[in-house]
Amino acid sequence: MARTAARGGRSKVAAASSNRKRPPERATAKAANSAVARTSTPELETIFDYVHHAAARLERAHVIFAHGTTDPVAEAAFLVGEAMHLHPDEVEPQAARRVPKAAGRRILGWIEQRIATRKPAAYLVNRMYMRGLPFYVDERVIVPRSFIGEILDSHFGDDDVLRLRHPATVTRVLDLCTGSGCLAILAARAFPNATVDATDLSADALAVAARNVREHGLTDRIHVAQGDLFTAVSGKRYDLIISNPPYVDAKGMAGLPHECLAEPRMAFDGGADGIDLVRQIIDGANTHLAPGGGLLCEVGRCKPAIEKAYPRADLLWLDTEESEGEVFWIEVARLADRSAHSAGAA
Ligand SMILES: C[S@@+](CC[C@H](N)C(=O)[O-])C[C@H]1O[C@@H](n2cnc3c(N)ncnc32)[C@H](O)[C@@H]1O
Repeated sequence: MARTAARGGRSKVAAASSNRKRPPERATAKAANSAVARTSTPELETIFDYVHHAAARLERAHVIFAHGTTDPVAEAAFLVGEAMHLHPDEVEPQAARRVPKAAGRRILGWIEQRIATRKPAAYLVNRMYMRGLPFYVDERVIVPRSFIGEILDSHFGDDDVLRLRHPATVTRVLDLCTGSGCLAILAARAFPNATVDATDLSADALAVAARNVREHGLTDRIHVAQGDLFTAVSGKRYDLIISNPPYVDAKGMAGLPHECLAEPRMAFDGGADGIDLVRQIIDGANTHLAPGGGLLCEVGRCKPAIEKAYPRADLLWLDTEESEGEVFWIEVARLADRSAHSAGAA
């Protein structure tokens, strides 16, 4: 039985894939450098000029926007903001500000690197913002872009009609597959009385998560631990489990956009039908949730596969500004119910 709340747009994977057929520009590093020299023209003076110029370059080069920005102007503004040490929200109000020469060279260099290498902009500047907060990122972790960040704000607040849980009553949170630690950090802020366990199989990812936890001043409330899904927290129970696990199916893995190839493969690979890990999370959550608790899980385009595998599970599908049917919520009482069991197990 499927339930849905709120409305949204299109899948981030769909957004990433939709441009794939356009031929990538073949720019070498040498060509990139000479392009920088060519484009360092005196008419580029203000933030507005650089954003306009950079957006046009990115658009002409047909780069794919799937890593925290969704269009050339937003990506250009992000890079210009980084060069000027501005939060993305500060870029537009300061559009008339003059860009110093050194910052201008940095911007043009990043744009040409972005086009030549196709790496996500976040890796070039080692930063990405989520819900307005900065996170350190490098190629050891997927670039933060989970829809769960928005849901933590929208569906646990005082004025939300659903209000899945009152934030003050959440004292124990598990972030499974934490990557950069972005969701664990957002959860610690959304639930001020909670301690958070942030787990991942990748030691590399956990090193990045630990850095972010430190930089956000949350080492007393967020504990990172390595392990295969629930093995890192055996015997423990939580009010809330959040997870953005790998969920790309075999077909999706074969056609990942060039931009995603720079990200760790294990952050995407969800097995043949995409739900190898999601199955383990649904089946294991029951024994790791406290009474009244629930599981919030992002699954990308796997909703049909999950509904096929769990035809009687009462999943509540939550939409966001940019997604529809990519995140589900299920309460522990319904997980404990035999009806939540998979088609094979029922
Ligand atoms: C899609 S990324 C999500 C990262 C982060 N939560 C976010 O939203 O940006 C999935 C993460 O799952 C981790 N992972 C893959 N297989 C795992 C497993 N069996 N157990 C725990 N973590 C795993 C990967 O290392 C990766 O960091």
